[in-house]
Formats: sequence, C-alpha cells, structure tokens
Amino acid sequence: MLPIIALDFPTPEEATRFIARFDPKEPLFVKVGMELFYAAGPQIIRDLQAVRPVNIFLDLKLHDIPHTVERAAYQLGRLGVQLTTVHAAGGSRMITAAKAGLLAGAKDAGCPPARLLAITHLTSSDQAMLSNELSINVPLTQAVQHLAAVAQAAGADGVVASAQEVPLIRAVTAPDFLIVTPGIRPANAAVGDQVRVVTPAGAAKLGSSAIVVGRPITQAPDPVAAYAAINTEWRTHLA
Ligand code: C5P
Repeated sequence: MLPIIALDFPTPEEATRFIARFDPKEPLFVKVGMELFYAAGPQIIRDLQAVRPVNIFLDLKLHDIPHTVERAAYQLGRLGVQLTTVHAAGGSRMITAAKAGLLAGAKDAGCPPARLLAITHLTSSDQAMLSNELSINVPLTQAVQHLAAVAQAAGADGVVASAQEVPLIRAVTAPDFLIVTPGIRPANAAVGDQVRVVTPAGAAKLGSSAIVVGRPITQAPDPVAAYAAINTEWRTHLA
C-alpha cells in the first residue's frame, strides 16, 4: 500500500489546499483524524474527494457498547472511505459490531466497504501505565500481540501498531492481516514527540503493510518532494 499522509490540520481549508499540491494523476492516500473530523464533520471526506481522487483512512478510534459502535460504523461505512479504526480494548463483540456496521453502511451507499483496523495499545502507553492504571500485568508486547489476535478473530482486517511490533503481530495473525504503522521518521527528520521511531526502509523490512507519516511531510519545506522521497525509500525496501 501507498504511504499514508496524516492530514493533521485544524481546518478543512488547510487540508484541501495541502492535497491540491500533489499531481492529481498520482495516487494519494491520506489519514483524517479526530481533530480535522471534529472541526469539519463528514463533509471533509467529500471536500477532499472533490479536490482529487484520494484514498482515505478515517481514524476515529471508536470505543463504546457494541450497538452504539455498530450504528456509528454504519454512518462511517456510508462515507466511502478505505480504512477506519476501533479500539480493540472494547472487546470482540464490539469489533464484530463495528465490522457489521461498516458493511451495512457501505452496502446501502453502494460503495466498497472500508477495511477495519483495531488499535491494540496506543504507542503513548507504556508498561507502567498498563500495570499501574489498567491493572494489566503481562509485558506490553504480549498484551499487544494478544489484542491483535483477538481483533483478527473478531473480524478486523488489521491493526495499527508500532513498526517495532510487526514481527510479533505477524507471528499470531494471517499473512494478509494489515499492520499499519505510524511513528515513521526518515533518517534526517525531526523526531518531535514520537518516542520509538522507525525509518520508512526499516518499516518495510519489518513487514509493515503501510506507513503513516505526518509532520515529516506536512511540515516539510517541499511536501511533494518529501513525500516522493519517503515513497521511494518505502517501495525500494518492500519485500
Ligand atoms: O506527524 P506524525 O508522523 O508523528 O503523525 C503520525 C500520525 O499517526 C498522527 O496522526 C498520530 O495521531 C497517528 N498515530 C500515532 N501513533 C499511534 C496511532 C496513531 O502516531 N499509535
């Protein structure tokens, strides 16, 4: 899959202006997160699609009772996005409900269904937080691996994870299970607030299905050139 550009902008105008810089003949995959979606509403999806053909990862990290998640996912399924997310910690019934909602929404809207990614443990969580606050007394890596297996069994198409976790997730999931990895930094880029970063080449070698890259592209002096360099590095090192 193409590298996914995280459109972490506060307004729809900034996001649409940003994607208009890219050659409309080149395929593009972008991530819309909570900030932009809560600011602009579902219209942001249509606004982006009106600028140019674009694949969209709508990362809203649903987590509620299964019925509520199914109804919410139905609405997301109608939008015609390619990827969306739920928290695996909501349990297998919730994940299965999200998948059912997405499929029903896409069917009613006449569009291909979005693939569902589960969030295992956020990369901002650490072992102390798991033990002291969530009372989870297994190593973080084991907890991530367990939730990935639960998510797959419940019908998720993949997970979002750190590239460093890919080998242990691959060990317990099917070869076509998607592992989408943020926390990517080219060797020369500022790390910012990310802690455990991996280069595009490193993520490809570890077996990521797709990388998510935000600030190294959106904040670059020449975002189109920064994206092209990352895409080339990623593709060159894919198995
Ligand atoms: O700017 P940067 O490349 O750090 O952006 C990464 C994107 O991936 C952000 O939108 C961030 O919220 C998201 N993300 C992440 N770590 C996760 C899940 C999502 O960095 N575990």
